[in-house]
Amino acid sequence: MPNIKVQPSGNIYEYEVGKTLLEVLLEEGIFVDNPCNGKGLCGKCKVRILEGELSEPEDTERKLLKQEEMENGVRLSCLVKPETDLEIELMQKERKHQVLTGGYIPSFAFDQDIQKIVVEIQKPTLEDQTSFEDQILRQIPKASLELGCLQMREFVSGQVTVVLHGNQVIQIEEGNTTEKMYGVAVDIGTTTVVCTLIDMLTGKELAHASMINAQKHFGLDVLTRITYELEHPEDGVEKLQKALVNSINEMIEDICCQAEVSKEWIYEIAVGANCTMMHMLLGVPATSLGRSPYAPVFVCGKDIKAKEIGLCAAEGARLYCLPSVSAYIGADIVAGAYVCQLQKESGNVLFIDIGTNGEIVLSSHGRLLCCSCAAGPALEGMNISSGMRAAEGAIEDVTITESGIEWKVIGNEKPIGICGSGILAVVKELLRVGLVRKEGAFIKLNKLEESDYRFHMLQENGKKREFILSEEQKLLITQGDIRQVQLAKGAILSGFLALLKKAGIQMEDLDKVMIAGQFGAHLPADSLVGTGIIPKEVQEKLVYVGNSSKTGAYMALMSAKVKREMEELARQMDYMELGATENYERLFSECLIFPNVK
Ligand code: FES
Repeated sequence: MPNIKVQPSGNIYEYEVGKTLLEVLLEEGIFVDNPCNGKGLCGKCKVRILEGELSEPEDTERKLLKQEEMENGVRLSCLVKPETDLEIELMQKERKHQVLTGGYIPSFAFDQDIQKIVVEIQKPTLEDQTSFEDQILRQIPKASLELGCLQMREFVSGQVTVVLHGNQVIQIEEGNTTEKMYGVAVDIGTTTVVCTLIDMLTGKELAHASMINAQKHFGLDVLTRITYELEHPEDGVEKLQKALVNSINEMIEDICCQAEVSKEWIYEIAVGANCTMMHMLLGVPATSLGRSPYAPVFVCGKDIKAKEIGLCAAEGARLYCLPSVSAYIGADIVAGAYVCQLQKESGNVLFIDIGTNGEIVLSSHGRLLCCSCAAGPALEGMNISSGMRAAEGAIEDVTITESGIEWKVIGNEKPIGICGSGILAVVKELLRVGLVRKEGAFIKLNKLEESDYRFHMLQENGKKREFILSEEQKLLITQGDIRQVQLAKGAILSGFLALLKKAGIQMEDLDKVMIAGQFGAHLPADSLVGTGIIPKEVQEKLVYVGNSSKTGAYMALMSAKVKREMEELARQMDYMELGATENYERLFSECLIFPNVK
């Protein structure tokens, strides 16, 4: 078999001829960005060929690569099928990503499902042969005991700690272990997964860990991953589940190590996630979520043994998955709505989670309406020609002044790309200085005097105009990039307005607009308003709530009442399918127009 040497690690892998280079690398667990899942559309899966022979690039590849890149041996790994020994260099480094863990939390009383009770087990005698089980049940009459707990235990006498989940005994431990009771709150996003270790006795957060969702190998967005399931009926569901479970287990190891806690003391794991991630975590096929009419297999909260899906914690630990509403209003949004206490609002409050999908919930005098709009991944820095996720080296803010273009880079490094907040800031600035018109097109270069400070910021590439963000790093903002932001804006704003219309209220009736989500938190109000994603009228009413999905998981872990209320809230949320609302297309195209901010 031929082999591939991968730089910079220098590792060598044998491979089977017939697969694309991207497939070979992903199978070896080597990360190569592949937003279009190897379909030859996105142009992101670049690698540099250092040695070895490959067939000449065809038209598709030529269109996606710059001349200069081809001269330097750059190829798109999904479009080449190697046959001989190769040496390649990876072009995207996995960098430390910015992940949000904290956030707003309402006050609530702790009443955990998990409890520990110490009982005294008498040594049996010939006169009293009361069983171990009966001795426990006499001391905790409400408890019910599964055979599994007894299978974990020999007959011991003396102090024994009974771990209860509600009234169910889930574990029996020798001695008094009541001082050790931990849980893990998890937020599974399509892009990142966040875990927090909680001391369930005090509610204190002890350690955090986060990582990029390991399912990235199967595609960057949920639809591509669903397609992967469809195309791999034999093991797709299992592989996607394993990727998530392994990531969570890895993070559990990490947080336990940070806090010097044994994972044997973790009795409950609570998870907030979108509906697709929840299906995939539980090993339930998600294919119905990817095609009309988008019916999920389940939406109710799930309470199962953590080990049933391979999570590493205490032997009897439970896994609680928060409830969802529909395919596109998942448990992460129910958690967010709960954390913002939308069900208790007496006025009009709008909640928006900005990500690849913008999910919006409107609470209007106690009525809860929600919708989901396909914003696309632009606001996460994806599908943008120089785009990248919010990681070191990403431009996160841009200002255009008469003396030039200023930017802020994550980690204060040299810029290598632009992330979601950066692209939004550029578009806001381009609109402000009049280089982009409200319809979304760059102005013509001949409309500018050569002495105008903006003249040298634009260039013409054939018929296309481009904004030169960094000459040195060759970072450009293309007309296509502006279009991506415009589509995201149109989607979110139209969802926003459609909900107001359905509830029969006006913009000025809104008391608060709450911005949630990993990405929302990094999008400043002036960019959201400057690009028209959020109307100017509510700028003063914006409240950032952080990662409310993980906060919801934390609250569920610490309170059985919260779990019940979340289930109730999910049932109360009325889902509105935007595409099915009257005149939606017209509303959407009106919402594509950028605001006049000059
Ligand atoms: S072009 Fe190769 S993954 Fe998109």
